[in-house]
Amino acid sequence: MRVLGIETTCDETSAAIVEREEGSGRVLSNVVLSQVKKHAAYGGVVPEIASRAHVDALDRIIQQALSEAGLTLDEMDGIAAAAGPGLIGGVIVGLTTAKALAFATGKPFLAVNHLEGHALTARLTDNVAFPYLLLLVSGGHSQLLAVKGVGQYQRLGTTIDDAIGEAFDKVAKLLGLDYPGGPEVERVALKGDPTRFSFPRPMVGRPQPDFSLAGLKTAVRIEAERIAPLTDKDVADLCASFQKAVIDMVLDRVRVAVQIFTSQHGTPKALVVAGGVAANQAMRRQLLHLADSLRVPLIAPPMDLCGDNGAMIAWAGAERLALGQHDGLGFAPRARWPL
Ligand code: KG4
Ligand code: ZN
Repeated sequence: MRVLGIETTCDETSAAIVEREEGSGRVLSNVVLSQVKKHAAYGGVVPEIASRAHVDALDRIIQQALSEAGLTLDEMDGIAAAAGPGLIGGVIVGLTTAKALAFATGKPFLAVNHLEGHALTARLTDNVAFPYLLLLVSGGHSQLLAVKGVGQYQRLGTTIDDAIGEAFDKVAKLLGLDYPGGPEVERVALKGDPTRFSFPRPMVGRPQPDFSLAGLKTAVRIEAERIAPLTDKDVADLCASFQKAVIDMVLDRVRVAVQIFTSQHGTPKALVVAGGVAANQAMRRQLLHLADSLRVPLIAPPMDLCGDNGAMIAWAGAERLALGQHDGLGFAPRARWPL
């Protein structure tokens, strides 16, 4: 079974072809066009610019995905698009395009929840069995989910304010670093002292595995203002101390989530990390230690499948199609769509 997947919920225009055979998956093509440069000057994603850029690029990206896979639209078994959650203008572009292609070809159409795409990627890359624990950390989401089956997701924890990637981006901005801030903070933190500033570890010790980033971000701002003007060393130390606080919080929250998961569903088959922040090597290292100590395998999909991409949408569509599911062409785009 082969599915075309389209992703346009944020600032990546992407189309991919994925093949699913006897439960395991293969990426035949995954074309991702990042709009980062278009938004960099504004220090964040500008929805109007994002929508227009998706319109400009999507046809070409779909053509490229088909030609890299050496396939035609007629050889697809389904056409999937992320129908939300995300920036509504972009969602409309991808969803409407997928509907039009499905209508013109008579193929089944799948409206995929973007979060479900992230949630199921580990089955595409590593054939992970259910149930598993997912730590989803990106610019838009910070969630801990029990993934029990296709369409069966239990949210154990979420952020009560900013997403983790968003906090990295905001801290980078206030320290004068480039956008997107996550990779910049990580790069600069390598030269910094993580013990120089003792920032708060929000939520640590709470029984519910939720996240909170707003207070930590404010603490960084106050400290930066107090010691200004900042030297390169100050910025590095601030980045390292901030990153350390985030990682400590994430580890504590994952520990709590594993306990809750285990008491309800038994030991998770894996701890899966997904989302752009999963690219953070320091966080990955610490999560690996934690997973080892819990005797649970850590699955971290490769970088190109960690951030937003069409392959995860195609794969979620294929998993649903294999269960005999598809959606009507009347499916409305959704800015908000909790799993
Ligand atoms: O999943 P993603 O590509 O897009 C969505 O937000 O859905 O995630 C992008 C986010 C940005 O906030 C970016 O700063 C963050 O992931 N990020 C990182 C790193 N690489 C990307 N955060 C921390 N460390 C990194 N190395
Ligand atoms: Zn995402």
